[in-house]
Amino acid sequence: MTTLVETIEALDQRLAPLHQQASTIGLVPTMGALHRGHAALIEQAKRECSEVVVNIFVNPLQFDRKEDLQRYPRMLESDVDLCRRLGVGLVFAPAVSLMYPDPPTVGISIGRLGNHLCGARRPGHFEGVATVVAKLFNIIRPRCAYFGEKDAQQLAIIRRMVMNLNAPVVVVGVPTLRAADGLALSSRNQHLSPSERQQAPILIQVLREAERLIRSGTTDPALVVRTALELVPPDRGLKVEYLEIVDPRELQPVEVVDDRVLVAGALWVGSTRLIDSVICGPAGTEV
Ligand code: PAF
Repeated sequence: MTTLVETIEALDQRLAPLHQQASTIGLVPTMGALHRGHAALIEQAKRECSEVVVNIFVNPLQFDRKEDLQRYPRMLESDVDLCRRLGVGLVFAPAVSLMYPDPPTVGISIGRLGNHLCGARRPGHFEGVATVVAKLFNIIRPRCAYFGEKDAQQLAIIRRMVMNLNAPVVVVGVPTLRAADGLALSSRNQHLSPSERQQAPILIQVLREAERLIRSGTTDPALVVRTALELVPPDRGLKVEYLEIVDPRELQPVEVVDDRVLVAGALWVGSTRLIDSVICGPAGTEV
């Protein structure tokens, strides 16, 4: 049975016996519009934990553009249905006024981890993500929390937050699920028109080309980026926001690709912004 709770009191009532029995609580934080990618997070949490809590909250603090927040898909009923089918015990879907009765004054700062990739283009986004995740950790007190590897910068920042603040949570990264043509599953894909959907896999094709170049010995990151971007057809509907090669822990650009790297990109397809990434390295590197 899945219980939907919308207040912290109701959540506490449900969680108290679980904490008392020292159950392993697994948290899957989401902004809803759940798809197969989220189902993979939930399924992994179910395999590894005795209780799973799915959080559904479209967090205004992490939206740098108002239109994006307004347009973000909201479909609580079908999300709860999916959780029910997946055997999730608890869904926590708080209102904005509950999470932020006042605009928060104190939050999490992420330092240089936000200086590149999406962080450089979306001011305040990752501070907003880290702050809401810290709040959720405090409210739910999970043993483990599950995040998709697709949002590689987010995952690296949350791992660092947990380490730097000694949060008693194990962060689990779950591999990206892809459609047959390689497009990473994302709630944003539903904004794509049929013709945009056909163009969208160009992002993963560019990333795989970068990976191929790196594996075959190209060490100059600028050359990798330039060559991989040649795959993007000149089309007014496609705009590459960035393609960057950084070290996977510190998220800083590398001067030479001689070790494991994170290749990450953001592509606008019409008015939809897609992100994706791969971790790779020169032949012989462990990835
Ligand atoms: O990845 C997301 O959906 C969100 O950034 C998260 C982690 C749920 C925080 O709002």
